[in-house]
Amino acid sequence: MSERVKIFDTTLRDGEQSPGFSMNVAEKIRVAKKLESLGVDIIEAGFPVASQGDFEAVQAIASEITETVVAGLARANLNDIDRAWEAVKGAASPMIHTFISSSDIHLEHQLRKSRDEVLKLAVKAVKHARSFTDVVEFSAMDATRSDRTYLAQMIGEAIDAGATTVNIPDTVGYTVPGEFGELIRYLMENVPNIGETVVSVHCHNDLGLAVANSLAAIRNGARQVECTINGIGERAGNTALEEVVMALKVRKDLIGLDTGIRTEQIYPTSRLISSITGIRVQPNKAVVGANAFAHESGIHQDGLLKEKTTYEIMTPGTIGLSQSTLVLGKHSGRHAFRDRVKSLGYELTEDQIANAFQIFKNLCDLKKEVYGEDIEAIIADEIIQIPDKYRLSFLSVTSGSELIPTATVQMEIEGEVFKAAELGNGPVDAAFKTIKGITGDTSNLTRYEVDAITGGTDAQGQVKCALEKDGLTVIGRGSDTDIIVASAKAYINALNKLNYKQKYLKSDVDRTL
Ligand code: KIV
Ligand code: ZN
Repeated sequence: MSERVKIFDTTLRDGEQSPGFSMNVAEKIRVAKKLESLGVDIIEAGFPVASQGDFEAVQAIASEITETVVAGLARANLNDIDRAWEAVKGAASPMIHTFISSSDIHLEHQLRKSRDEVLKLAVKAVKHARSFTDVVEFSAMDATRSDRTYLAQMIGEAIDAGATTVNIPDTVGYTVPGEFGELIRYLMENVPNIGETVVSVHCHNDLGLAVANSLAAIRNGARQVECTINGIGERAGNTALEEVVMALKVRKDLIGLDTGIRTEQIYPTSRLISSITGIRVQPNKAVVGANAFAHESGIHQDGLLKEKTTYEIMTPGTIGLSQSTLVLGKHSGRHAFRDRVKSLGYELTEDQIANAFQIFKNLCDLKKEVYGEDIEAIIADEIIQIPDKYRLSFLSVTSGSELIPTATVQMEIEGEVFKAAELGNGPVDAAFKTIKGITGDTSNLTRYEVDAITGGTDAQGQVKCALEKDGLTVIGRGSDTDIIVASAKAYINALNKLNYKQKYLKSDVDRTL
């Protein structure tokens, strides 16, 4: 058995505190449970002293999680630590994570304290945390811009005071791999009691080096990495869990270390975070981006169809994606197209394939890259014509600067007529709420895009919306000169596709596409 690197996940703390990524308590509990099934060693659930909401979320997560350590963050003062303990004490395995800055820049300008005073606060904080629990992490904030001798002294004293993990953060994303690896080695060699603890690293991605820095630290003795799903976090984010874990797995030949991560849960966990926060992962993001396993070049596609290892260093299945999402384009042949149709779950006759391939080729003249969703649209709209369970018969919306937007919708569901009205935050919101109410839809709206087909104020508006339910994603489209009507049509089109997919697709279909 090789040695293990612990994975400390801070998606719910460092990740959640960044703009646009906030979650409510129920969402945080869903994420925490998913992280537990992913196999992380520690879930940093939040910063309990920050607000009553944060406190309650950490407390709720602590009571729901049964196997994984649950940590609460606290500055190095007694009140923060008391609050953190109150929040995590109900956990099966609670941890307090306390921190104070070690760099002169922070000491002088932010804390306005001397090195000696800060050392005393660090020691007092760790001792206080240890009076509650045997599992205490101490972080020397801004470690990478600190005087090395002072940093080593602070780490040594924190260990003497009882820290079971010592964390070396690159708080401002300043260091580079060679320098950071050397810093970790320096601490391993110059802090006499360092062997009594786990050495952890926490890197920010301001220079795009968080994963590289974490790996350099591991290669020099660190045995815990702090990271987040999709690399979310303060400013440019934190070390991306999926990247560091897959780097360790793919390059085990070189690094020789394991993690406890169930890698097939990586993609579903990434999707959960983007669907809860509504923030999509950039398509070219390593490991979990839409293009991470997509091969457009004809040469690459040909190689892949013959033997996967020609162009893939890891299989999509390893991260929980059941198929290579080959991006097709004008260079793609009928073989690759047929393969893609099959992987989407459609069983077409040779005539239907020939027909669909012709439409696909025409589309390639208009669009450089053709994705699974485009092929599905060809099949749904032109080849098998998905039957409409839901039809929009009538939509009326009132809105204006002085009015609460209200929508009245009449629909037919399998021939039966339904009518309802709802208020909303805007006219589209009101229309969607009304349709949701009538149909009882429980999917998540993960994307909503409006484009003008032609220029001018009389332009046709084209709306695309993506719905996701139980791992199935569909894209609905609608166009009209009235953007609200186009939106309602797109939503209803997506509902019809979802209904079709849920009922008729083969059970072994790639549900993640
Ligand atoms: O970036 C940082 O230094 C932190 C600490 C609280 C560990 O997030
Ligand atoms: Zn941080």
